[in-house]
Amino acid sequence: MSRERYWRAISIDSITPEYFPSVALFLKTSGNYVLYKDPDRMFTLADFSRLERTYTEFLYVRSGDMEVLNDFMESTMAEMLARNDLSSIAKGRILYQTSVNCVIDMFESPETTANLLRCRNLVQNILQYVASDPHVLDSLKTVVDNNFYIFTHSVQVAALSLLIHERLFELAPDEMIDVGIGSLLHDYGMTFITNEVLEKNDALSDIEYWKVKQHTREGYDYLKHCGNYGEIVLNIVRYHHERYDGNGYPTGLKGDNIPRSGQVAAICDVYSALIMDRPQRKANTHADAIKIMLDEAKSGAFNIELFNKFVDIINETSTT
Ligand SMILES: [Fe+2]
Ligand SMILES: [Fe+2]
Repeated sequence: MSRERYWRAISIDSITPEYFPSVALFLKTSGNYVLYKDPDRMFTLADFSRLERTYTEFLYVRSGDMEVLNDFMESTMAEMLARNDLSSIAKGRILYQTSVNCVIDMFESPETTANLLRCRNLVQNILQYVASDPHVLDSLKTVVDNNFYIFTHSVQVAALSLLIHERLFELAPDEMIDVGIGSLLHDYGMTFITNEVLEKNDALSDIEYWKVKQHTREGYDYLKHCGNYGEIVLNIVRYHHERYDGNGYPTGLKGDNIPRSGQVAAICDVYSALIMDRPQRKANTHADAIKIMLDEAKSGAFNIELFNKFVDIINETSTT
């Protein structure tokens, strides 16, 4: 297990003073994790103020403590989102960070019914949040990143896909849940690719690129075999790298033969990848990401009409 996987980030906004499970909390300073609070001591209002004064956004817990913490976070999430004393950014940070922690578990065992239920519950909360907050995208970028690219990216794609579906299409509640779950799991097939390829900083060889491209097929095959996942979920996993002009993968489907949920996921996928830091480059600004995607859309990557609507929604919901 890599060192980073041992630690999980918790947004300090989600730590309600005098009311938090008794787990040890750590601060990350110069790459080291230093004990901030031992399990027996209560997290107090003074702690909260001190951390706020030093602009600390995240504390860390040992991954072994996550089960109890996830239970706590996920069961109090709806309550947290309804609080008037928390800013929209703070709510987004709590929600996205809790979702990242849930996706980590989902990727470890997507066949577990308990994980699927947790995931449904979170998707419901994300949906409620994206539907009710006018600046819902402002907090997307504040999710702690470190080595959790794929998980953070998955949560971003889910929030974006849900937002687009909520604004543009009228789906039944269960279908919306499936859009969220499919988006959270769209890159699940990446778990079949070796770290050596995933963490490579140089350009990939043809064989390596071919392997990476298999993640759509492998994710689809695995999740289909699980038997827990419906058509919308599987479509998103399978088709999120198809291009509107038919030059995508894995099947080369063209135009509106690509299921709509797959088309939306493709757009959200590229946007999320562009606005995040990658080993080879810094994150693009929102405006640059849209510019790059517009060129892509003109070259046939996306349904241009859908892309334009996506841009309108992103511009409306993001002030940064
Ligand atoms: Fe992908
Ligand atoms: Fe992706």
